Amino acid sequence: MRVLVLGSGGREHALSWRILHSSSCDKVYTMPGNAGTEEIGENIPGNPEKIQDVLEAAKKIRADLVVVGPEAPLVAGIADALRDEGFLVFGPSAQAAMIEGSKAFSKKIMLDNRVPTGKAEIFANFDLAVSYLKTLEPPVVVKADGLCAGKGVVVAKNYEEAESALYAMMVEEKFGSAGKKVLIEEFLEGEEVSFFVITDGKNIVPLTSAQDYKRAYDGDEGPNTGGMGSYSPFPQISKKDEEELIEKIFEPVLNALKRMGLPYIGVLYGGLIKTSENYKVLEFNCRFGDPETQVILPRIEGDFLGLLASAAEGNLNNAPKLSISELRALTVVLASGGYPEKYDVGYEISGIKEAEETGVIVFHAGTKRENGKVLTSGGRVLNITAVEKSFKEAHSKVYNAIKHIRFDKMHFRKDIGERVMRIEG
Ligand code: GLY
Repeated sequence: MRVLVLGSGGREHALSWRILHSSSCDKVYTMPGNAGTEEIGENIPGNPEKIQDVLEAAKKIRADLVVVGPEAPLVAGIADALRDEGFLVFGPSAQAAMIEGSKAFSKKIMLDNRVPTGKAEIFANFDLAVSYLKTLEPPVVVKADGLCAGKGVVVAKNYEEAESALYAMMVEEKFGSAGKKVLIEEFLEGEEVSFFVITDGKNIVPLTSAQDYKRAYDGDEGPNTGGMGSYSPFPQISKKDEEELIEKIFEPVLNALKRMGLPYIGVLYGGLIKTSENYKVLEFNCRFGDPETQVILPRIEGDFLGLLASAAEGNLNNAPKLSISELRALTVVLASGGYPEKYDVGYEISGIKEAEETGVIVFHAGTKRENGKVLTSGGRVLNITAVEKSFKEAHSKVYNAIKHIRFDKMHFRKDIGERVMRIEG
């Protein structure tokens, strides 16, 4: 199969890499890709959010399957446009992608179908939101309804923080139309975990779990980022827990979408929290996680591309069988100094080969190749990943490999995996 992967981050390098290592893959193209995807396939210039760019590329390369990485093109309708032109697509329609594109839509489906989640009220009027806020005991969570690139959720420790988050979203329109509607949600205490399933709208293939590190600095300090590192699996999830997640969370939501006439094709990512009672849903995402993909895909054995294609065909029952290895995977993100706020790009990166020679996988994110050099071109730059028998071994391999890599103002967390190593070793 000839596959077009849309996106340019670490997730898309991991997807392109895993697709290429599937028996049914002939060639992988990535739009626009990065210096890593260029090495293993072919990058196609273009913007995945521009339907014209994507259709032209899919036609030109005669794509047998298009795999959509990020949420924005999905919410913008890229899967629908491609399907209308007869392409096979791994990714939900714009309407089904509203499970991520609108937190109000998603919350309503959960509450209507008794899916465990925090209580929430939805407001489109600032004064009404403030009146409701005054009746609550902090902490509370304020969430913008629409897509905000991971910045639309504020955990407010007191009334003032919650009110100023509401003001910024609803009155100042900090996130444009995405914050005109907000959710004021119950704060839930516990460890966060990501769980991924593949679905063709009727059948579900569970993949596995991961945990990511959202804050910029060690000890979970500093601003929220797209994710500074992750590991897989989340060992506290037992087989029985996984079965319960499917039965109580994923099946009811996917069945509800089907009843609404919005069958969901693609990966459904549950952002969950392990509370003292049970696993509850914080949010759903309509795509793979980043950097979770970098730790889940290296643990998947078998024809991964065959699975994605079967889901896209609505034929998951006949998909090739995959297995998930018991190995432990860990990744650390090397970021540009200043990320997630202001940062500079264009710095030369050295030592990637030397790092790879120690046995890690280097997934590129914000990188580009110019005159034979690899340069930084984004906030998150590289993901250094190891897959070993224990988290301790994976951790030591990753941090040793990082010693080889250099670029100006490089920043990374030093504590990825510490919690899980205390649990498991
Ligand atoms: N790592 C969080 C996300 O992909 O949304």
